[in-house]
Amino acid sequence: AKGLPLSAKKVLITAGPTHEAIDPVRFLGNRSTGTMGFELAMAAANLGAQVILISGPTHLSTKHDSIEIIRVVSAKEMYDACHEFYDGTDIVICAAAVADYKPKHVSSEKIKKKDGDLQIELERNPDILFSMGEKKTHQFLVGFALETENEIENAKGKLRRKNLDAIILNSLKDSGAGFGGNTNKITFLDKNMDLKTFELKTKSDVASDIWKEIISRIHA
Ligand code: C5P
Repeated sequence: AKGLPLSAKKVLITAGPTHEAIDPVRFLGNRSTGTMGFELAMAAANLGAQVILISGPTHLSTKHDSIEIIRVVSAKEMYDACHEFYDGTDIVICAAAVADYKPKHVSSEKIKKKDGDLQIELERNPDILFSMGEKKTHQFLVGFALETENEIENAKGKLRRKNLDAIILNSLKDSGAGFGGNTNKITFLDKNMDLKTFELKTKSDVASDIWKEIISRIHA
Protein backbone atom coordinates (compact mmCIF):
# COMPACT_ATOMS: atom_id res chain seq x y z
CA ALA A 1 0.00 0.00 0.00
CA LYS A 2 3.06 2.27 -0.01
CA GLY A 3 2.82 5.28 -2.29
CA LEU A 4 -0.96 5.36 -2.28
CA PRO A 5 -2.54 8.63 -1.05
CA LEU A 6 -4.01 7.06 2.10
CA SER A 7 -1.25 4.59 2.92
CA ALA A 8 -0.46 4.52 6.66
CA LYS A 9 -3.74 6.34 7.36
CA LYS A 10 -6.30 4.93 9.78
CA VAL A 11 -9.83 5.70 8.71
CA LEU A 12 -13.03 5.24 10.73
CA ILE A 13 -16.38 5.25 8.91
CA THR A 14 -19.90 4.89 10.30
CA ALA A 15 -22.61 3.51 8.01
CA GLY A 16 -26.20 2.39 7.87
CA PRO A 17 -29.17 2.96 10.15
CA THR A 18 -29.46 2.21 13.83
CA HIS A 19 -32.25 0.14 15.34
CA GLU A 20 -33.62 1.19 18.70
CA ALA A 21 -35.41 -1.60 20.54
CA ILE A 22 -39.02 -1.17 21.66
CA ASP A 23 -39.46 -4.76 22.86
CA PRO A 24 -37.80 -8.09 21.98
CA VAL A 25 -39.28 -8.12 18.46
CA ARG A 26 -39.78 -4.45 17.53
CA PHE A 27 -37.57 -1.47 16.88
CA LEU A 28 -37.49 2.12 15.61
CA GLY A 29 -35.35 2.45 12.51
CA ASN A 30 -34.93 4.27 9.22
CA ARG A 31 -34.46 3.47 5.53
CA SER A 32 -30.70 3.93 5.31
CA THR A 33 -29.09 1.01 3.43
CA GLY A 34 -25.48 1.79 4.35
CA THR A 35 -24.41 2.04 0.69
CA MET A 36 -22.66 5.42 0.93
CA GLY A 37 -20.62 4.36 3.97
CA PHE A 38 -19.63 1.02 2.43
CA GLU A 39 -18.57 2.76 -0.80
CA LEU A 40 -16.48 5.24 1.21
CA ALA A 41 -14.85 2.35 3.07
CA MET A 42 -14.00 0.42 -0.11
CA ALA A 43 -12.64 3.54 -1.82
CA ALA A 44 -10.46 4.33 1.22
CA ALA A 45 -9.11 0.77 1.33
CA ASN A 46 -8.29 0.93 -2.37
CA LEU A 47 -6.42 4.19 -1.70
CA GLY A 48 -4.25 2.40 0.85
CA ALA A 49 -6.02 3.12 4.17
CA GLN A 50 -6.64 0.78 7.10
CA VAL A 51 -10.39 1.05 7.57
CA ILE A 52 -12.64 0.42 10.56
CA LEU A 53 -16.22 0.35 9.26
CA ILE A 54 -18.78 0.60 12.05
CA SER A 55 -22.10 -0.37 10.56
CA GLY A 56 -25.67 -0.52 11.79
CA PRO A 57 -27.97 -3.29 10.54
CA THR A 58 -27.57 -3.71 6.76
CA HIS A 59 -27.47 -6.52 4.23
CA LEU A 60 -24.21 -5.20 2.78
CA SER A 61 -20.86 -6.77 3.34
CA THR A 62 -17.39 -6.32 1.92
CA LYS A 63 -14.34 -8.51 1.94
CA HIS A 64 -11.24 -6.38 1.73
CA ASP A 65 -8.10 -7.22 3.71
CA SER A 66 -7.85 -3.62 4.89
CA ILE A 67 -11.46 -3.23 6.09
CA GLU A 68 -12.52 -4.40 9.52
CA ILE A 69 -16.31 -4.36 9.86
CA ILE A 70 -17.77 -3.87 13.31
CA ARG A 71 -21.48 -4.57 13.31
CA VAL A 72 -23.66 -2.76 15.82
CA VAL A 73 -27.40 -2.37 16.30
CA SER A 74 -28.22 0.70 18.39
CA ALA A 75 -26.86 4.25 18.51
CA LYS A 76 -25.40 3.52 21.96
CA GLU A 77 -23.46 0.55 20.56
CA MET A 78 -22.26 2.66 17.62
CA TYR A 79 -21.19 5.40 20.05
CA ASP A 80 -19.19 2.93 22.16
CA ALA A 81 -17.54 1.34 19.12
CA CYS A 82 -16.56 4.75 17.68
CA HIS A 83 -14.95 5.87 20.92
CA GLU A 84 -13.08 2.61 21.25
CA PHE A 85 -11.22 3.35 18.00
CA TYR A 86 -11.33 7.16 17.79
CA ASP A 87 -7.99 8.04 19.43
CA GLY A 88 -5.93 6.02 16.98
CA THR A 89 -7.73 7.33 13.89
CA ASP A 90 -6.57 9.92 11.35
CA ILE A 91 -9.76 10.49 9.36
CA VAL A 92 -13.38 9.94 10.40
CA ILE A 93 -16.43 10.05 8.16
CA CYS A 94 -19.83 9.69 9.82
CA ALA A 95 -22.18 8.47 7.11
CA ALA A 96 -24.56 6.59 9.43
CA ALA A 97 -28.18 7.64 9.79
CA VAL A 98 -28.23 7.47 13.57
CA ALA A 99 -31.63 7.50 15.26
CA ASP A 100 -32.05 10.79 17.12
CA TYR A 101 -34.38 9.17 19.69
CA LYS A 102 -34.79 5.80 21.35
CA PRO A 103 -37.62 4.37 23.44
CA LYS A 104 -37.11 5.44 27.05
CA HIS A 105 -38.13 2.03 28.35
CA VAL A 106 -37.48 -1.23 26.50
CA SER A 107 -40.15 -3.77 27.34
CA SER A 108 -38.65 -7.13 28.24
CA GLU A 109 -41.81 -8.87 26.99
CA LYS A 110 -43.49 -8.40 23.62
CA ILE A 111 -45.96 -5.54 24.03
CA LYS A 112 -49.52 -6.93 23.72
CA LYS A 113 -52.16 -5.08 21.76
CA LYS A 114 -54.98 -3.56 23.76
CA ASP A 115 -57.97 -1.39 22.90
CA GLY A 116 -57.13 2.22 22.16
CA ASP A 117 -53.87 3.96 21.39
CA LEU A 118 -50.39 3.20 22.64
CA GLN A 119 -47.80 5.82 23.53
CA ILE A 120 -44.08 5.18 23.48
CA GLU A 121 -41.96 7.75 25.25
CA LEU A 122 -38.69 8.61 23.49
CA GLU A 123 -35.44 10.04 24.77
CA ARG A 124 -32.51 11.57 22.91
CA ASN A 125 -29.64 9.45 21.71
CA PRO A 126 -26.11 10.82 22.01
CA ASP A 127 -24.80 12.65 18.94
CA ILE A 128 -21.80 10.49 18.04
CA LEU A 129 -20.27 12.96 15.61
CA PHE A 130 -20.63 15.85 18.08
CA SER A 131 -18.96 13.80 20.79
CA MET A 132 -16.00 13.10 18.50
CA GLY A 133 -15.78 16.80 17.58
CA GLU A 134 -15.56 17.64 21.28
CA LYS A 135 -12.51 15.45 21.86
CA LYS A 136 -10.83 16.07 18.50
CA THR A 137 -7.06 16.30 18.58
CA HIS A 138 -5.50 15.54 15.19
CA GLN A 139 -8.38 13.79 13.42
CA PHE A 140 -9.86 15.10 10.14
CA LEU A 141 -13.55 14.87 10.95
CA VAL A 142 -16.27 14.72 8.29
CA GLY A 143 -20.05 14.57 8.65
CA PHE A 144 -23.06 14.35 6.41
CA ALA A 145 -26.07 16.64 6.38
CA LEU A 146 -29.41 15.80 4.85
CA GLU A 147 -31.38 19.02 4.66
CA THR A 148 -34.70 20.00 3.18
CA GLU A 149 -34.50 23.78 3.65
CA ASN A 150 -31.76 26.44 3.97
CA GLU A 151 -29.41 23.64 3.07
CA ILE A 152 -26.09 25.48 2.92
CA GLU A 153 -26.77 27.62 5.99
CA ASN A 154 -27.84 24.62 8.07
CA ALA A 155 -24.86 22.59 6.91
CA LYS A 156 -22.50 25.44 7.85
CA GLY A 157 -24.09 25.63 11.29
CA LYS A 158 -23.68 21.89 11.76
CA LEU A 159 -20.04 22.03 10.65
CA ARG A 160 -19.25 24.69 13.27
CA ARG A 161 -21.36 23.22 16.09
CA LYS A 162 -19.88 19.75 15.68
CA ASN A 163 -16.29 21.06 15.21
CA LEU A 164 -15.92 19.37 11.79
CA ASP A 165 -13.29 19.81 9.10
CA ALA A 166 -15.80 19.24 6.33
CA ILE A 167 -19.44 18.39 5.79
CA ILE A 168 -21.13 16.69 2.86
CA LEU A 169 -24.54 17.98 2.00
CA ASN A 170 -27.12 15.78 0.26
CA SER A 171 -30.12 17.70 -0.84
CA LEU A 172 -33.42 15.85 -0.64
CA LYS A 173 -34.65 18.20 -3.36
CA ASP A 174 -32.43 16.46 -5.89
CA SER A 175 -34.11 13.37 -7.26
CA GLY A 176 -31.81 10.37 -7.04
CA ALA A 177 -30.02 11.74 -3.98
CA GLY A 178 -29.95 10.47 -0.42
CA PHE A 179 -31.49 7.33 0.99
CA GLY A 180 -31.99 3.99 -0.65
CA GLY A 181 -30.89 4.60 -4.25
CA ASN A 182 -27.58 3.90 -5.84
CA THR A 183 -26.93 7.50 -6.83
CA ASN A 184 -26.26 10.65 -4.89
CA LYS A 185 -25.72 14.35 -5.48
CA ILE A 186 -23.53 16.17 -3.01
CA THR A 187 -21.99 19.48 -2.09
CA PHE A 188 -18.67 19.32 -0.23
CA LEU A 189 -18.14 22.17 2.22
CA ASP A 190 -15.00 22.65 4.31
CA LYS A 191 -14.35 24.65 7.47
CA ASN A 192 -12.97 27.57 5.42
CA MET A 193 -16.41 27.66 3.75
CA ASP A 194 -14.92 26.46 0.47
CA LEU A 195 -17.78 24.86 -1.36
CA LYS A 196 -17.91 22.44 -4.30
CA THR A 197 -21.05 20.99 -5.86
CA PHE A 198 -20.97 17.76 -7.86
CA GLU A 199 -23.26 16.21 -10.47
CA LEU A 200 -25.60 13.31 -9.77
CA LYS A 201 -23.39 10.18 -9.78
CA THR A 202 -23.29 6.61 -8.56
CA LYS A 203 -22.43 6.38 -4.86
CA SER A 204 -19.17 4.70 -5.84
CA ASP A 205 -18.17 7.74 -7.93
CA VAL A 206 -19.37 10.06 -5.17
CA ALA A 207 -17.08 8.21 -2.75
CA SER A 208 -14.10 8.86 -5.07
CA ASP A 209 -14.97 12.56 -5.27
CA ILE A 210 -15.22 12.79 -1.47
CA TRP A 211 -11.83 11.12 -1.00
CA LYS A 212 -10.22 13.46 -3.55
CA GLU A 213 -11.49 16.46 -1.59
CA ILE A 214 -10.30 15.04 1.75
CA ILE A 215 -6.89 13.98 0.42
CA SER A 216 -6.23 17.41 -1.10
CA ARG A 217 -6.87 18.92 2.36
CA ILE A 218 -4.89 16.54 4.54
CA HIS A 219 -1.87 16.82 2.24
CA ALA A 220 -2.17 20.60 1.91
O1 C5P B 1 -27.45 16.77 13.23
P1 C5P B 1 -27.64 15.77 12.13
O2 C5P B 1 -28.26 14.47 12.60
O3 C5P B 1 -28.31 16.32 10.91
O4 C5P B 1 -26.14 15.44 11.69
C1 C5P B 1 -25.86 14.47 10.73
C2 C5P B 1 -24.45 13.99 10.92
O5 C5P B 1 -24.22 13.66 12.29
C3 C5P B 1 -24.16 12.74 10.14
O6 C5P B 1 -22.79 12.76 9.81
C4 C5P B 1 -24.48 11.64 11.15
O7 C5P B 1 -23.76 10.45 10.88
C5 C5P B 1 -24.01 12.27 12.45
N1 C5P B 1 -24.79 11.85 13.64
C6 C5P B 1 -24.19 11.07 14.63
N2 C5P B 1 -24.91 10.72 15.74
C7 C5P B 1 -26.18 11.13 15.91
C8 C5P B 1 -26.80 11.93 14.92
C9 C5P B 1 -26.07 12.27 13.79
O8 C5P B 1 -23.03 10.67 14.47
N3 C5P B 1 -26.86 10.76 17.01
